[in-house]
Amino acid sequence: MKKTVRDVSFAGKRVLLRCDFNVPLKDGVITDDSRIRAAMPTIEYLLEQGASLIVLSHLGRPKGSPDPKYSLAPVAVRLGALLNKGAVVFMASPGVVDESVSSAAKNLQPGQVMLLENVRFRKEETDNDPAFAKELASLADVFVNDAFGTAHRAHASTAGVADYLPSCMGFLIEKELRFLGRAIDEPERPFLAILGGAKVSDKIPVIKNLLNKTDGILVGGGMAFTFLKAAGCEIGDSKLEADLLDLAKELMAEAKEKNVSFLLPTDVVAADAFSDDAAHKVVPANAIPEGWMGLDIGPETVEAFSREIEKARTIFWNGPMGVFEMENFAAGTRAVAQAMARCGGTTIIGGGDSAAAVAETGAAHLMTHISTGGGASMEFIEGKDLPGISCLEDME
Ligand code: 3PG
Repeated sequence: MKKTVRDVSFAGKRVLLRCDFNVPLKDGVITDDSRIRAAMPTIEYLLEQGASLIVLSHLGRPKGSPDPKYSLAPVAVRLGALLNKGAVVFMASPGVVDESVSSAAKNLQPGQVMLLENVRFRKEETDNDPAFAKELASLADVFVNDAFGTAHRAHASTAGVADYLPSCMGFLIEKELRFLGRAIDEPERPFLAILGGAKVSDKIPVIKNLLNKTDGILVGGGMAFTFLKAAGCEIGDSKLEADLLDLAKELMAEAKEKNVSFLLPTDVVAADAFSDDAAHKVVPANAIPEGWMGLDIGPETVEAFSREIEKARTIFWNGPMGVFEMENFAAGTRAVAQAMARCGGTTIIGGGDSAAAVAETGAAHLMTHISTGGGASMEFIEGKDLPGISCLEDME
């Protein structure tokens, strides 16, 4: 058992708080602040306990050097507005830590919050360089990690820093582990996984682990076509990972052996080009004409998937059922979100695109848990160790 913020005394302490404020931005404006909101319970709690906060995050993937496009300045403004307790001091030092940052950190008073610049402006961050981790640690007395979305990265600010400071997790990581852990270890049955997205290669480890945990797996999205081909279907010009055909066959055979139902689409919306303007029609999934590609699940599949979803007591969903950013191929993903909203069981959304799809259908408030981590929740479901969590102190 790892320590949480409840197990540490924070009065008068300077806390190095790692959050995942990797939020979507359009022309410098935050388009979805859910990740900032998700960190508020920990931030508010630490401030109430008498701590001062030095907050760290990454944003995007700058190439290890300062890039104004990825500055956390807009996040500081949003965080200040959400805090409702005066401004957040934004330290715009492109080197993240320098003398001005160190001296400002020293002078920080209980209740004050300081946000540093994007930690990925330093190459040493993603290298998990111990000297950089030490530099960060020198600013504070305690390290609190609440960046669930980045917990699968062994970086200086997510893991390295725990070598130099007492450490614990925040409420967000605790909550994510509770929901994802319960789903995978003690699900109410039937336990169904819905997997989509473009590539089978991204989902192999998760399918392997879910075959030991679930009662059924529904497969949609681009990844379905490699399975359909492996099952002997004509998939036209649909996305195919030819090198994974044998593995796809093996996974389906394993599902059969383990009595896990493995449902593929029976019809798809096919188009004659990868474009929202392309001609499109519903065709059987085993007879997609040459020159056409499946870009969404069809209405018969939606019905079959919805029936399974409504019967399930626990559902984990990751990956859209089609190219949902194109209006003509969004219906399958929306229908799955709506079926999940109708299901009375525990519904868990594994972050990323599926979270965006659920938000877009207006069904977000009807889900039990929407993870703030796409990659992190997948690695957790795969059964992998998350370095940003395993680095934290254990309870005595
Ligand atoms: C995410 O958005 O999944 C996290 O913030 C991690 O970002 P990364 O994939 O760039 O490490």
